[in-house]
Amino acid sequence: MVSAADLSAAVGAVRLANPVMPASGTFGFGAEAARLYDITKLGGVVMKGVTTLPRLGNPLPRVTDCPAGMLNAVGLENPGIDNALKNELPALASMYNGPIIANVCGFTVDEYAALAARFDESDAVAALEINISCPNVSHGGMAFGTDCRAAADVTRAVRRSSRKPVWIKLSPNVTDIAQIARACEAEGADALCLINTLLGMRIDLRTRRPILGNTFGGLSGPCALPVAIRMVWQVYEAVTIPIVGMGGIASARDVMEMALAGASAVEIGTAGLVDPTALIDIIDELPGVISSMGYNSYAALVGAAH
Ligand SMILES: Cc1cc2nc3c(=O)[nH]c(=O)nc-3n(C[C@H](O)[C@H](O)[C@H](O)COP(=O)(O)O)c2cc1C
Repeated sequence: MVSAADLSAAVGAVRLANPVMPASGTFGFGAEAARLYDITKLGGVVMKGVTTLPRLGNPLPRVTDCPAGMLNAVGLENPGIDNALKNELPALASMYNGPIIANVCGFTVDEYAALAARFDESDAVAALEINISCPNVSHGGMAFGTDCRAAADVTRAVRRSSRKPVWIKLSPNVTDIAQIARACEAEGADALCLINTLLGMRIDLRTRRPILGNTFGGLSGPCALPVAIRMVWQVYEAVTIPIVGMGGIASARDVMEMALAGASAVEIGTAGLVDPTALIDIIDELPGVISSMGYNSYAALVGAAH
């Protein structure tokens, strides 16, 4: 009998039973997903982005669709760091004992550093995913991820304020992703996560007005996959730290493509919104797809296309 392919994955010091994690903002803090499927099968989980104060998010409508994708302008609706640490994180940790990644979003460098230090209080957090790429807030967010100096400043400040592994989540809305990646690596990032959503918009023909309440939104889903693969490829060539790849993954074969481009692990967002059990189906299909490609482990595929 041929043994099943080894799915274990590692993002630096963070070990995952398999490479698949829900992408931040598409899994909340896990309670809704846990009612729909066995979340303990996930390789890791990434929490909704947390800010210092609670946020109600942007005006409605916040989502709309497009061929092979969607636009969202949720605007970081979240309960704030106090509530996240006191209620959401313990509740998630009681349901899930794999690696929990905290997604952190600030509006100033100092705020990022302070939030990172607060998450140090929790043993339940395995790593920080620093979101310098949110396109849906009027200041902060993406502004840090589209400028090399600002990306470096946030990385340095967070690195100093936290003992946790620091993963920096990059924006695709840049001309040269490799340059930003190198700036984050130079300041001590332990890993890079990419891509966040692509800035987009749609207009309602009937009202002749933008559809989203925020005018602009972030494009995600299968239409983003080729952009994400290209950027993961470029970043893999530019740095030596691990990469968490995401953007448009909707099948086990898409996971393979990300791995070949250089992703040590992956996150899946939109596919899980379309079909809540998509991530579990993909995890179940991975061993067969890896074997059919002639490999016996996920790890052996990482970067193999280079
Ligand atoms: C509704 C929604 C909310 C999101 N919220 C966050 C967030 O809070 N923090 C973050 O870093 N990314 C957030 N993202 C971006 C995703 O984590 C991911 O980077 C992006 O959607 C690309 O992956 P996908 O094509 O598999 O969805 C959000 C995406 C969606 C669709």
